[in-house]
Amino acid sequence: MENIIKAIQEATIEIKHLIETGDTSKSENQNSTGDTQLKLDIASDIIIEKYFKELSNVKAIISEEQENIIPINENGEYLIAYDPLDGSSLVDVNLSVGSIYGIYKNDFNGKNIVASVYVVFGPRVELVYCDSQTVKMYRLQDGVFNYIKDIKLKKQGNLKAPGSTQQCWYPHHKVMINSFFEDGYRLRYSGGMVPDLHQILLKGGGLFSYPATSDLPKGKLRQLFEVFPFALTYKCAGGGAIDGYKELLEIETNHIHDTTPCFFGSINEIQKVLEVYKSHA
Ligand code: AHG
Ligand code: MN
Ligand code: MN
Repeated sequence: MENIIKAIQEATIEIKHLIETGDTSKSENQNSTGDTQLKLDIASDIIIEKYFKELSNVKAIISEEQENIIPINENGEYLIAYDPLDGSSLVDVNLSVGSIYGIYKNDFNGKNIVASVYVVFGPRVELVYCDSQTVKMYRLQDGVFNYIKDIKLKKQGNLKAPGSTQQCWYPHHKVMINSFFEDGYRLRYSGGMVPDLHQILLKGGGLFSYPATSDLPKGKLRQLFEVFPFALTYKCAGGGAIDGYKELLEIETNHIHDTTPCFFGSINEIQKVLEVYKSHA
């Protein structure tokens, strides 16, 4: 596993340079989810693939930006799913973006995730690594990733990051979000799940939601590249990660680009989501 983390660190340093100097315009391609890819999405994907292809313990990789699984080494132990540049449409307005990695064994499924990494490209570059036990944060300083601290969520926080648009929220979801605001929660939503989830983790707690909506009944966020890695991180930080009814890591993935509704937060907020959603099942 150490060589995988090292590869991610090296790719991160190249992607940081790319974000600082690269072209933020759109390409002419669409990815499997139908998003128009930015030139930055494609270039970050190429960087990551280059590093993973050199690792003998990696069996296969799959990227949000590619249609199919890429085999690497038949005898490798690990499978890696990654989103090279999440929130890439925020680069042109100079907001934070990120990369997300889920490391699996046997097959690409929530039950089989064994580690996760995400990287926040903000005013500083931070890398958060969860090995299924602890959640550790590192900061890039003078070309080196220095350990900063372990991350733990409080039982309850005061931040709320509600995804999608109210126009498409189902009535019970809208009532639930309003009730968080009535309880004093503060709105913190940038449109990039990496900085939004990082903020909730570092400020002690709250709730990030990307629900089922009238336009996207299966949610927007992708299971293997976005949802499962953060589900593992939130669980290990002492919080929760559900689809409204059940644990996100118990969802079966039928297709590599499947999406799911998702809620990540501290345990009191997750409990409240479960109560509201159960009464509307
Ligand atoms: P990507 O840039 O990889 O396509 O993903 C963006 C995602 C996620 O980061 C964010 O939370 C969500 O899209 C925002 O969607 P809405 O604007 O619908 O809230
Ligand atoms: Mn993404
Ligand atoms: Mn992306």
